[in-house]
Amino acid sequence: MSERDYKVLVVDDDLEMCGLLSDVLRGEGFSVHTLNDSLEASQWLKKEDFDVIITDLKMKGLKGLDLLEEAKQVAPLTPVIIITAFGTIESAIKAMKMGAYDYITKPFQMDELTIIVKKALENRLLKKEVIRLKKEVESRYHFHRLIGKSPPMQKIYDLIERISDTSSNVLITGESGTGKELVAKAIHYNGVRKEGRFIAVNCAAIPETLLESELFGYKKGAFTDAKADKKGLIFEAHEGTLFLDEITEMPLTLQAKLLRMIEEKEVRPLGDTNSYPIDVRIISTSNRDIESSIKQGRFREDLYYRLKVIDIEMPPLRERKEDIPLLIQHFIKKFSEEMKKNISGISEETLKRLLNYPWPGNVRELENVIQRAITLTRYETILLEDLPITLTVEKEESLIEKGAKERYTIDQLEREYIKRVLLEAGGNKSKAAEILGLDRKTLYRKLQEE
Ligand SMILES: Nc1ncnc2c1ncn2[C@@H]1O[C@H](COP(=O)(O)OP(=O)(O)OP(=O)(O)O)[C@@H](O)[C@H]1O
Ligand SMILES: [Mg+2]
Repeated sequence: MSERDYKVLVVDDDLEMCGLLSDVLRGEGFSVHTLNDSLEASQWLKKEDFDVIITDLKMKGLKGLDLLEEAKQVAPLTPVIIITAFGTIESAIKAMKMGAYDYITKPFQMDELTIIVKKALENRLLKKEVIRLKKEVESRYHFHRLIGKSPPMQKIYDLIERISDTSSNVLITGESGTGKELVAKAIHYNGVRKEGRFIAVNCAAIPETLLESELFGYKKGAFTDAKADKKGLIFEAHEGTLFLDEITEMPLTLQAKLLRMIEEKEVRPLGDTNSYPIDVRIISTSNRDIESSIKQGRFREDLYYRLKVIDIEMPPLRERKEDIPLLIQHFIKKFSEEMKKNISGISEETLKRLLNYPWPGNVRELENVIQRAITLTRYETILLEDLPITLTVEKEESLIEKGAKERYTIDQLEREYIKRVLLEAGGNKSKAAEILGLDRKTLYRKLQEE
């Protein structure tokens, strides 16, 4: 950027001074706007974004300090330099307190002024940069429609950014509900392929017999029901993205055909003698262990390598708990807007419970829990009672598991078991003895051994 791109506003009711300042600053390459009416200046402030403002302190109409106050409100990042006559230093200091960038006393050397203006400009650019960086950091709390600020999510955002403009195939793995489809869409809509279409095909939902004709299309007469030519979904995704959800469910015969399509970049519809060139990026997903499918001979290894040129593994929610509060806020906002309810948040106790839950269904489960809570709640805050029962009863760890984890001796295990039975019997020793198959005396003895 040259100085010419920076706009300086000079306000002084002394016409001569205005002219002088304007000449000097123009000489330095700034674009200068001079006004000798401070009221008019106040109007200009509202419609133009100046980089530096220089104003005299004593003027008819609006005073320099009033103008400063206005500038602070409408353009808080624009530095204001005050010109003041000798003898009014107090008011200059007052101006500094009100947020002026600097002041200069008349008479002054023009060099002095240009140095201050340049420094002020630097200050403004720095402030703007800080704000921009701050925004950038904040925006990393989400990416496209993905929410999350945890380190593993940040890594995923970086990766999406790096690969969006390439055409490499991507394989996204991860448990159900971790956001695999959202990642696929973020890749598509963040890159050059967004001009093309995002075609989603769920390999598990379409019957085997239909999947082939859906994907590759057919010629009229290719089979009994083929009354007319039909374009396959792969064609629809030309120059865009073909999203193959749950790829491990694809039958082996189709896997071979897909592999051929990837290698030759051509598609041949059913019943057609010709092949047609095609340009698609394939993003596929799996929530199963593909490698074991390969070992079992249910998935082609060569296709696997073609699909996972880039692989993304989605972390389960329980491994990035710091994202939970952010996701909760997001879903509260989403569903309370949708249901036109005024829900502001969640009680601390409820949040704690949600943070401690292992979320086997990941973000989808959390989304459902919040949606349900917002439907049910009668207050402005989500309470424990609005959670489903699976979340409200804290599951006690099985004694055997605990014992195995902490390497109990038989004696320790016995003591722990006795304690638990006694607790469940409400402290009634006769009842506990009965459950334990001991006589009361033995139970007493065992209790005293502790
Ligand atoms: N990071 C996230 N931020 C916001 N919403 C999310 C996030 N991850 C998942 N979701 C939401 O959770 C739900 C499930 O996400 P998605 O369909 O992408 O998961 P998936 O991994 O494809 O699951 P599945 O394996 O069951 O198909 C969607 O409603 C999605 O909007
Ligand atoms: Mg999915």
